[in-house]
Amino acid sequence: MKHASPIPGWDIRYGIVPALIVGAVSAVLTLAAVLAQPPVFQAGIRILQAGRYSADEAQALAGAPEVAAAAVSLPAVSGYNLRQEDFLRGSAVEQPLEGSVLRLSIRDADRGRAEARTLAWAQALCAALSEKALAPGAGCYESGGIISGQTDSFLIWKVLAAFLLGAALAYGGGLLQARWNAKENAVMAKKEMVKGLDPAAQKLIRKLKSGKARVGVIGLGYVGLPLVDVFGHHGYTVVGIDVDQRKIDALNKGKSYIEDIPSSHVASLVRKGALKATTDFSQVGTLDALSICVPTPLRKTGDPDLSYIVNVTEEIVKYLHPGMVIVLESTTYPGTTREILQPKIEARGLKVGKDIFLAFSPERVDPGREDWTTINTPKVIGGITPACLEVALAYYGRAIRTLVPVSSADAAEMSKLLENTFRAVNIGLVNEVAIMCNRLGLDVWEIIGAAATKPFGYMKFTPGPGLGGHCIPIDPLYLSWKLKAFNYNARFIELASEINTGMPRYVVEKVQDALNKNRKAINGSRILVLGVAYKPNVSDLRESPALDVIGLLQKKGAVVDYHDPFVPEVRHESLRLTSVPDLEGAVQQADCVVITTDHDAYQWKKILEMARMVVDTRNALGVEGKLSPKVIRL
Ligand SMILES: NC(=O)c1ccc[n+]([C@@H]2O[C@H](COP(=O)([O-])OP(=O)(O)OC[C@H]3O[C@@H](n4cnc5c(N)ncnc54)[C@H](O)[C@@H]3O)[C@@H](O)[C@H]2O)c1
Repeated sequence: MKHASPIPGWDIRYGIVPALIVGAVSAVLTLAAVLAQPPVFQAGIRILQAGRYSADEAQALAGAPEVAAAAVSLPAVSGYNLRQEDFLRGSAVEQPLEGSVLRLSIRDADRGRAEARTLAWAQALCAALSEKALAPGAGCYESGGIISGQTDSFLIWKVLAAFLLGAALAYGGGLLQARWNAKENAVMAKKEMVKGLDPAAQKLIRKLKSGKARVGVIGLGYVGLPLVDVFGHHGYTVVGIDVDQRKIDALNKGKSYIEDIPSSHVASLVRKGALKATTDFSQVGTLDALSICVPTPLRKTGDPDLSYIVNVTEEIVKYLHPGMVIVLESTTYPGTTREILQPKIEARGLKVGKDIFLAFSPERVDPGREDWTTINTPKVIGGITPACLEVALAYYGRAIRTLVPVSSADAAEMSKLLENTFRAVNIGLVNEVAIMCNRLGLDVWEIIGAAATKPFGYMKFTPGPGLGGHCIPIDPLYLSWKLKAFNYNARFIELASEINTGMPRYVVEKVQDALNKNRKAINGSRILVLGVAYKPNVSDLRESPALDVIGLLQKKGAVVDYHDPFVPEVRHESLRLTSVPDLEGAVQQADCVVITTDHDAYQWKKILEMARMVVDTRNALGVEGKLSPKVIRL
């Protein structure tokens, strides 16, 4: 059985025995303390006087100065506790005072003395009552004698409370102590670790933390440029290196070419001298830290293409110097940093972990996203050695809010592939569910909407025309490729890839069905594809399934146009297309409109009204699409 614990390594059962012991000790001590007190005797007097008193009269009696004086004077004499309110309570509800028993609590070890004092009070009271003449015949009282004598009527409660309090304090104290110890241990472990570092690592960490370091980013694309932005705005002087001269020129002029990074950010860095972009790799020699963010595509054969990483490594080793940290960010299979970068660096005579520090830290940026960006997305980091990890943490710690250290560079590489494989497999699953729903005559969007109401244990994925982007269709294949060397077939990855890459063909079947409704064939029909970027509101065309859909339709003889507010033209393999300038005209002229990317800019209602037939692969038309006879949905 598992026990939730607020502290690592602390089991909630640990505190139970000490709590029981301390609780018991505190209960015993309380009991002893109470028993050491003289016992409390209760004595009573019975008022014999006849007659009734109204509440007011009783109040008046009790409040009569004589009565009060008598009451007040007695404790001074004998030290007992006169409770005038008892008197009141006996009469205030118009009970006959006669026969009322007034109880007095008298703390006195001597029973006789307690009784005598009770009588003395009664006498005083009666005298007062007589004098007041409110009570004719007053002076009549009778001692009720000792009604009860006991040490303490709350004894059990006091002992119980002492037990509980003692136990709670002991448990809480133990918990606090354990928490404090855990913190101390962590700090000590860290100090020990940092203490154990070579002076070279210590020196570099100090420089990185001081913000005086000069850092570099190689590959200034979707990953590299946001990193430059974050580093530059957190005190580092950044050198951006890329082979694309147009990007270098744009940056040095203060211009951004990535939607997520405003030109004003780049311009401000250039203006204050915090950013210099260059194609010159010799700048590496001036750097303290370096991040590599170059592409990791697939070859035509479907194998990983590590040529970018290899080329960059071969370039930078010429300029490396001791006291540098290098972090690879490009997504790749587990082992790349250790098997490819480390040997090339060490061949230069620099020992990794001593002279130079090497780590892997995957980028998780999702272009177009505003809530989670480079700066606030937790960043996983794994070093080749513990020293490499420490230095890399200091490097990124200055600019990134949350760092997640892992045990090795391989672990960091694998964590990224798990994330992307998780997405690829789930998208494959939901795409297959779309196909299955189609066979069953069910609406997949309704099914997904219903399933997604489950507040736990389900994560919503939606089907579409296929997988796009630089990561999800590609990265899992890096993993399956690596596993082949271990004689293992990564079946989930293969299957998801098969289903996802088959989706464009499935969409073409839907276009065929749509045209068929109007007795048309694909061959010779005019088809308008809406949205060619691989996801909404960005211009990124990489691996976009819309391009496959266009290619397949063209192969079947369709005349294909496209429109995309973010992509003015497409130059991809043999495709040479320009976005249609007149969207409304193109929609009206098309025999079928295919919605492949649901950019926010589209006015779907209007498009639905104007189109002859629509194939909606994204559920962009929603319920209206469901109800319209001219719409075929995925
Ligand atoms: N784009 C994403 O959403 C994303 C997210 C997470 C991880 N990644 C990974 O990050 C890496 C980079 O992806 P990206 O999207 O930034 O790619 P990108 O194509 O946008 O940028 C890569 C940059 O590297 C430059 N480059 C290519 N070869 C070079 C060389 N030899 N020297 C210097 N520069 C060179 C290119 O000119 C380009 O500017 C890839 O491994 C990718 O899988 C990408």
